[in-house]
Amino acid sequence: MTQPRSMLITGGAGFIGANFVHHWAAKYPEHRLVVLDALTYAGNLQSLQGLDGQPNYRFVHGSINDQRLVEQLLKEEGIDCILHFAAESHVDRSITGPDAFIETNVLGTHALLKAARAVWLAGDGRPHRFHHVSTDEVYGTLTPTDPPFTESTAYAPNSPYAASKAASDHLVRAYHETYGLEVTTSNCSNNYGPYHFPEKLIPLCLINILSGKPLPIYGDGQQVRDWLYVADHCRGIERVLEVGRSGRTYNIGGHNEMANLDLVHSLCARVDAAFAEAPELSERFPDAPPARGKASTELITFVKDRPGHDRRYAIDARRATEELGFVPAETFETGIAKTVHWYLGHETWWRNVLSGEYRDWVQQQYGS
Ligand SMILES: NC(=O)c1ccc[n+]([C@@H]2O[C@H](COP(=O)([O-])OP(=O)(O)OC[C@H]3O[C@@H](n4cnc5c(N)ncnc54)[C@H](O)[C@@H]3O)[C@@H](O)[C@H]2O)c1
Repeated sequence: MTQPRSMLITGGAGFIGANFVHHWAAKYPEHRLVVLDALTYAGNLQSLQGLDGQPNYRFVHGSINDQRLVEQLLKEEGIDCILHFAAESHVDRSITGPDAFIETNVLGTHALLKAARAVWLAGDGRPHRFHHVSTDEVYGTLTPTDPPFTESTAYAPNSPYAASKAASDHLVRAYHETYGLEVTTSNCSNNYGPYHFPEKLIPLCLINILSGKPLPIYGDGQQVRDWLYVADHCRGIERVLEVGRSGRTYNIGGHNEMANLDLVHSLCARVDAAFAEAPELSERFPDAPPARGKASTELITFVKDRPGHDRRYAIDARRATEELGFVPAETFETGIAKTVHWYLGHETWWRNVLSGEYRDWVQQQYGS
């Protein structure tokens, strides 16, 4: 599409959404950005600090399941692009409580699609784009020798999270095929980087190293994932918006296949190196092994594997390279160095998340 002028970003207070909002606001300050977020446990307004007061930025506290609210925003803000990040996103939580995943990922996405159809197709027929941010987990699991996922790999989701995302992908596709809604979908590999909620593997292990707590590794730690630095994901989505074809899906990956155990070893090495480079870190984080001259790997602890744990994900990103001209800028080494640097420099952000202080504030402000 031609560049969107007014964008509705759902889930913009979450990890990837917040990174995208900062990316877009810095690059296109003349564009209108409306963030719609329900501020669940994973949403964090502190991740959007610095944007309040900017004339083209607006935060709306609300749910994608509220079709009326979405229709109202599409109309009053002249929205021509919905960028849909909002989701329940943590696989472990989907195993213990799948209902929220169906509610948000399936019904919420459907409510958004209905609103888009009502305003964009039945309304003024304005040029538009609905971009759906999805995951490679919809394709299921690979053996070590299987070829990577392409955009035509059959869906075979194994967790309630992956199944709910798969259902939402199908709904997005159906709204294009049936009603002619202009849509694109990107299926991305595992992201890491700033503003990542500390329940996910990399920030969890990083913060646990700093606190001297165990680094839990599921099973034998040989589950392979493809890791992408979040800023690269944002650039990939930008390319889809710019040149992606309506009705098409794009796999976005990092060319970084790595077993979880190897990843945690790399993270430990990076943190140990940071302590060696900056001796004041030992005073700030006296419980971290490198503060006592030890290797962070001593904290690695193997725990019982989770049910349905996919063995390997790998992305064939040729379509994104050939059609979008997208290649990641960061290697895992540069991306993890930036990530460690960010968490060391944003202690207040993650301490607020962990202490529950931030949630108390949300409760007072919004009652949610
Ligand atoms: N994190 C990854 O590695 C990864 C990889 C590929 C794809 N994805 C997809 O990218 C998207 C963003 O992932 P993330 O890691 O940033 O997730 P996140 O859990 O960090 O953030 C989700 C955001 O959505 C908001 N939200 C939840 N329910 C909502 C509702 N009903 N209405 C409005 N807002 C709601 C939350 O408050 C939060 O701000 C998701 O759709 C996810 O499936 C994530």
